[in-house]
Formats: sequence, structure tokens, C-alpha cells
Amino acid sequence: AKITRGEVRFNNVSFGYVADSPVLQDLSFVAAAGKMTAIVGASGAGKSTLVALLQRFYDVEAGSIEVDGQDILEVTKQSLRRCIAYVSQQPYL
Ligand SMILES: Nc1ncnc2c1ncn2[C@@H]1O[C@H](COP(=O)(O)OP(=O)(O)OP(=O)(O)O)[C@@H](O)[C@H]1O
Ligand SMILES: [Mg+2]
Repeated sequence: AKITRGEVRFNNVSFGYVADSPVLQDLSFVAAAGKMTAIVGASGAGKSTLVALLQRFYDVEAGSIEVDGQDILEVTKQSLRRCIAYVSQQPYL
């Protein structure tokens, strides 16, 4: 499926890097297509983690992430990542 609008939806997403140490718990939100969305929170709150999940560097433990109504697990990583421009917090040359 082609991503054409860019709405991002997190549905009850839970994730942790190590067992029994959740970083995101039951997180739901919609970032509307064509709008700028800011995600704010304390250091370590999980902001970069949710962007990593959106790019499928990791996969959710529970819940789902949709782009334009399409579960990101159901499209190729290539087609997903083609739609994302990412400026990293810690850039590497
Ligand atoms: N690769 C990793 N392996 C294990 N734990 C990690 C990893 N990356 C992040 N964490 C942990 O996950 C939690 C969320 O980290 P994350 O980097 O998503 O926070 P952040 O909101 O982006 O913080 P900051 O404002 O400092 O960028 C923190 O407790 C962090 O230590
Ligand atoms: Mg961060």
C-alpha cells in the first residue's frame, strides 16, 4: 500500500527494550496528516523510542501503529521508510 497523506496513529502501544522495564505503556495518539506535531516530555520519557518504533527499528509488544490507516507491520520496511525524513538527535557523519 502507498502512504499518501501521512497520518500517524498509535493504538494502545506498549514497548520496552528489556523485559519487565516498559518504556511506553498503552500509548495512543494521532498525528494528523499535513500538520506539525510536537512531542514533549522529560529526558527518558520515550520520545525517541516512539520515533524508532514508527521506523520499525523495533516492533511494538502490544498495540499497533498505523500510517494512513495501514498497520506498519503490513507494509515493507522500504516503503515505510521512504516516507520518513529523520534528523537525528545524535547525528553521525
Ligand atoms: N537502545 C536502548 N536500549 C535500552 N534502553 C534504552 C535504549 N534507548 C533508550 N532506552 C531507554 O528507554 C527510555 C526512553 O528513552 P528515549 O531515548 O526514548 O527517551 P527520550 O524521551 O527521547 O529522551 P531525551 O529527551 O533525552 O532524548 C529511557 O529509560 C532510556 O534509557
Ligand atoms: Mg530523544
